[in-house]
Amino acid sequence: MSFSDRAPVRATACGKLILCGEHAVVYGRPAIALPVTTVRTTVKIEARGETPPRIEIQAPNIKSHFYADTDPGRPLSRIVCNTYEWCRRLNPAIPAQNIVVTVTSDMPVGSHLGTGAAASVASARAVAAWLEINLPVADASALAFEVEKIHHGTPSGIDNTVIAYEQPLWFIKDVVSELLEAPQQTEDLLSCLVVAAVGFSTTTKQMVDVVREGFRANRLRFNQYFDDIGFVSVRAREALLAANWPVIGQLMDENHQLLQELNVSCKELDALCIAARKSGALGAKLSGAGRGGNIIALARSSAHAAELRESLLSSGAMQVLIG
Ligand code: PMV
Repeated sequence: MSFSDRAPVRATACGKLILCGEHAVVYGRPAIALPVTTVRTTVKIEARGETPPRIEIQAPNIKSHFYADTDPGRPLSRIVCNTYEWCRRLNPAIPAQNIVVTVTSDMPVGSHLGTGAAASVASARAVAAWLEINLPVADASALAFEVEKIHHGTPSGIDNTVIAYEQPLWFIKDVVSELLEAPQQTEDLLSCLVVAAVGFSTTTKQMVDVVREGFRANRLRFNQYFDDIGFVSVRAREALLAANWPVIGQLMDENHQLLQELNVSCKELDALCIAARKSGALGAKLSGAGRGGNIIALARSSAHAAELRESLLSSGAMQVLIG
């Protein structure tokens, strides 16, 4: 069957949140990331009617419409073209493609739920499916990592890995990327994790730069913060595997305080954390790069998560979801 007669294909990727260890992970300390499967990015690929052959990309959520050949530097152009090249290495007979790639997502842009990595992973999966090439998870992650460099500059690799594998992840940059075999604990934890967005964001790249400046100005102090955050991750891993939620809550509070020291929080994130604790959360912290984006708060039960959702909305959160 020629490509022009093919039925459209679709592929998806989940969101993610960082339970602990963000920023310190860029400096080699461990972090834990969790997949968020309640939000997804979907990529559809279909044959394009017009000639000459081109790769047309539509992303209605960000009101974007462009062509990979005229906008080759854009992350979506890069992931589609890199995956196409990757597939052509396995089957050099694959011809130039005439396709429309449409990317849609439940995740608000700039929500720090891994929008960029999810778009990359879903696009890589969709291109491979369209070309009928098997794409192993590790390769989907590696293709997305290359594009993360456009988004982040010096990404640790945590986002593309947790999103590609869709499993909780213990991660040390360039050293360990270990999937945590704790499906029940993760499901229970996520059912009590309330993710509240402040409604604005700063880019990950800008926030990584803020921390880098702090680190350059005071290496000793920042190394101590990174060590302390790394130790939070070590204890959180044990607590997650033991399903010890009160300890996870305390560690989230501790992690948030250290992120404040790194100067990546802001008054809106701090206010939501305080509101969550006042409403009985076991703990709360910003999640992701900071100065916008989300906090995560750990409810005492899934019924309490629903209550916490309401109190965070009345405390100014723009959008709240339960993991
Ligand atoms: O993109 P975000 O907001 O989920 O942040 C990623 C985590 C950082 O540690 C801040 C950066 C990185 O590359 O690990």
